[in-house]
Amino acid sequence: SIYNCNVIELPKIHNRAGNITPLNSKVEIPFDIKRVYYLYDVPGGETRGGHAHKQLQQLIIAASGSFDIVLDDGIIKKTVTLNRPNYGLYVPPGIWRDLNNFSSGAVLLVLASEKYSEEDYIREYKDFLSYVK
Ligand code: TYD
Repeated sequence: SIYNCNVIELPKIHNRAGNITPLNSKVEIPFDIKRVYYLYDVPGGETRGGHAHKQLQQLIIAASGSFDIVLDDGIIKKTVTLNRPNYGLYVPPGIWRDLNNFSSGAVLLVLASEKYSEEDYIREYKDFLSYVK
């Protein structure tokens, strides 16, 4: 449910010359990372996402810039803004998400628990509602 979508504070190794955030499977990230991808060059006003997953777990990070993630478990909706690289949003399976309000230069980094599989996507909202019922 939506209550399992949590913003996690990630480590930040800080010094005068900048910061590092290291991420390890099953240490800072609550699953084995099988895939990494990043979304960038999103035109102003554009919306991404618009789907749910059956199995996939993800940690979503604003590696640069900011954006909003609208989460929906079929009953409750909640909007999370990510705007710092040392925080990540954990998204479990069975959550519909829309991504919007991308700042210019935003980079959305995703750590994923599974390899890409189109069969894992639920792309129609009405299918999502019957899936979570
Ligand atoms: P999609 O997950 O629908 O994008 P978003 O949620 O950001 O709007 O993916 C967009 C396209 O990219 C879709 O045709 C599938 C492809 N794709 C891959 O081939 N591999 C991947 O790991 C991802 C995430 C997407």
